[in-house]
Amino acid sequence: MNKILKVKNAGKYYRNRGSLTKAVDNISFEVENGEYIGIMGASGSGKTTLLNCISTIDKVTAGNIYINNQDITKMNEDELSKFRREQLGFIFQDFNLLDTLTARDNIALALSITGVKPEEIDRRIDSISNKLGILEILNKYPYEISGGQKQRIACARAIITNPSLILADEPTGSLDSKSAKMLLENLEFLNEELKATILMVTHDAFTASYCKKILFIKDGKIFNELVRGNDTRKEFFNKIIKVISLLGGDNQHVL
Ligand SMILES: Nc1ncnc2c1ncn2[C@@H]1O[C@H](COP(=O)(O)OP(=O)(O)OP(=O)(O)O)[C@@H](O)[C@H]1O
Ligand SMILES: [Mg+2]
Repeated sequence: MNKILKVKNAGKYYRNRGSLTKAVDNISFEVENGEYIGIMGASGSGKTTLLNCISTIDKVTAGNIYINNQDITKMNEDELSKFRREQLGFIFQDFNLLDTLTARDNIALALSITGVKPEEIDRRIDSISNKLGILEILNKYPYEISGGQKQRIACARAIITNPSLILADEPTGSLDSKSAKMLLENLEFLNEELKATILMVTHDAFTASYCKKILFIKDGKIFNELVRGNDTRKEFFNKIIKVISLLGGDNQHVL
């Protein structure tokens, strides 16, 4: 299978008045095309730092990160911003829709920057919106639509460029449980039906139970790995809870 992401001995260190924090400490793992990976760990364990290094928002201090066989740690700013637009999709905690643009234009923005022709943009938006059930609201503004519909717009925007990798940091963090479930079903749809490869950071076991594989991070290192296999979501959830109790420490936050 094709490896979409290869993280090799990645490290991110912060030096503060003489002391060194290894936020990411020699992490290596690989993600295959079509996988849906969760990254879990207590507060301060390095999840966001790792995700930001992969999403090109931050730079590693050591090691290499290959996305689609391209080493992003060797790219300059111009190469990175092009790479980000063309190869990555993002789902933010608050979805980051622009209030002054319609739903259609919010989705189109990601494509128009990359120079895709208007007819092709419309064709792709209609196709994805049909699949996500948002065709009727494409001409509405974010303040005219529900939270769940906003999420689907954000999912459409993340996948419209056919990114190699979709990245999400605590996407359910600010949602009530009903909206969280809806978002997770949308992400599952992107992964299973549209074959998107997804990497998601979460400290929530319910959210993580939708993934196919979980990497547990402790003190900047991979502490454990859990594969869902043929488990039901509930069975996987129970296994995740067990690993979290082994992780110890900051349990309140993890749960
Ligand atoms: N800019 C920075 N300068 C110094 N230390 C930092 C910086 N950013 C993060 N850290 C430290 O790196 C470690 C990992 O932080 P990170 O934000 O990756 O944690 P996290 O797992 O995402 O936590 P949370 O669940 O609370 O979001 C923490 O100890 C944090 O204090
Ligand atoms: Mg974080």
